[in-house]
Amino acid sequence: MSKRMRKVVFPVAGLGTRFLPATKVVAKEMLPVLDRPLIQYAVDEAVDAGADTLVFVTNRYKHAIADYFDKAYELESKLAQSGKNDLLAMVQGTLPKHVRCVFVTQPEALGLGHAVLCAKPVVGDEPFGVVLPDDLIWNGRGAGALRQMSDLSVRENGAGVIAVEEVAREQTDKYGIVDASPLSERAAKINLVVEKPKPDVAPSNLAIVGRYVLPGRIFELLETTKPGAGGEIQLTDAIEALLAERSVLAYRFEGTRFDCGNKLGLVKATLAMALEDPALVEPTKGFIRELCD
Ligand code: UTP
Repeated sequence: MSKRMRKVVFPVAGLGTRFLPATKVVAKEMLPVLDRPLIQYAVDEAVDAGADTLVFVTNRYKHAIADYFDKAYELESKLAQSGKNDLLAMVQGTLPKHVRCVFVTQPEALGLGHAVLCAKPVVGDEPFGVVLPDDLIWNGRGAGALRQMSDLSVRENGAGVIAVEEVAREQTDKYGIVDASPLSERAAKINLVVEKPKPDVAPSNLAIVGRYVLPGRIFELLETTKPGAGGEIQLTDAIEALLAERSVLAYRFEGTRFDCGNKLGLVKATLAMALEDPALVEPTKGFIRELCD
């Protein structure tokens, strides 16, 4: 039986330029969908997948994520004194007790591949997950996307597993695109990955989205990966090198992805979550009708 991943890396050192000016001071991952920041959804998914070590790759300006998961002494004692136990539980419940956080710095935003490589000293040579918090993937009460992927990796002898989703042809140049041979309803064996191909040369419209389960070997491959598309060190290029050595699977997860790295995606996620909330569903529907009339 292959080893199950226990560590999950959150690359959160990007500049978040699509949300400027807010991201001058608010980390993109702290933008809320209703009352919870994006990073909370991402962490919950990692914990659901069995993670006990969360590795945040941040830049030197982002302290909010560490603060968010830290103890808030003054707030907690005020809530306790005033008997606001529900709120206290909410504030204390951002992270289960058995889970630890490790913060590493990416000195310069040299790309997603470089950000993942910064986690090497913490992860070592074992399978690990990567979650990009701006892809919020919601599967209601069902298993989260990362759990589905980790289960598949264990069943497939530790194969790398990458989340994919069909996108419109004209969008291929925004994603890593795979060419893959189907193995089952949701899984396929990747033959080729290409970073941001133009629609007319893209091998398919199956796009890589923000979830990965990878073997520790990827770090060595990243160490020799040269800057690729956009002058950045691309995780996709290291995955291409990994393909020459072992099986990597593309996995069409169960759940809905909201691309909260852009404004429309954040609006959609907020509306979808409001419609899941018993207290908000009717007023939200009423408001949408009002807007559309
Ligand atoms: P994006 O491509 O969304 O870039 O990065 P960004 O800087 O976050 O946002 P925009 O495009 O300027 O609005 C994808 C993920 O990779 C991380 C980001 O934090 C995000 O989670 N990343 C990217 C890094 O951690 N370091 C990098 O050098 C680049």
